[in-house]
Amino acid sequence: MAIERTLSIIKPDGVEKGIIGKVIARFEEKGLKPVAIRLAQLSKAEAEGFYAVHKARPFFADLVKFMTSGPVVLMVLEGEGAVAKNREIMGATDPAKAAPGTIRKDFATNIEKNTVHGSDSPENAKIEVSYFFPEVQIHAYEWKK
Ligand code: CMP
Repeated sequence: MAIERTLSIIKPDGVEKGIIGKVIARFEEKGLKPVAIRLAQLSKAEAEGFYAVHKARPFFADLVKFMTSGPVVLMVLEGEGAVAKNREIMGATDPAKAAPGTIRKDFATNIEKNTVHGSDSPENAKIEVSYFFPEVQIHAYEWKK
């Protein structure tokens, strides 16, 4: 399978709960390497732009409010089939429906405070990675040399 990159966000509830290290460990244990990491306080405009695809959804305003309520960890994860693998490790959007052993099952509070975001397709991963990280801030690993 091809080496891919995907965008991962540890949401304000994950940062608040003090589980940044635990979440990153889940990714590393399954072969996803962080190749860029940044702690950020998103502005309203940044959160609205990032989630623009959900603009018409009834939860949009609350989603933006929550994502700007405290710091988040923005990460680019790299590895074989990183987009699908990240989604597998995260579990279903609604933690009540997430499989045992997934991040959302183990740490999330509800569908809004669901601890992590991950790109849902390779196409969106490219868009989302470039939304937060210029190429120059993403670091290469052995396997790409
Ligand atoms: P995320 O993967 O970040 O993408 C959009 C987010 O909207 C989603 O995770 C949820 O945290 C949030 N959200 C809040 N309510 C809903 C809902 N009813 N359906 C889907 N997503 C929701």
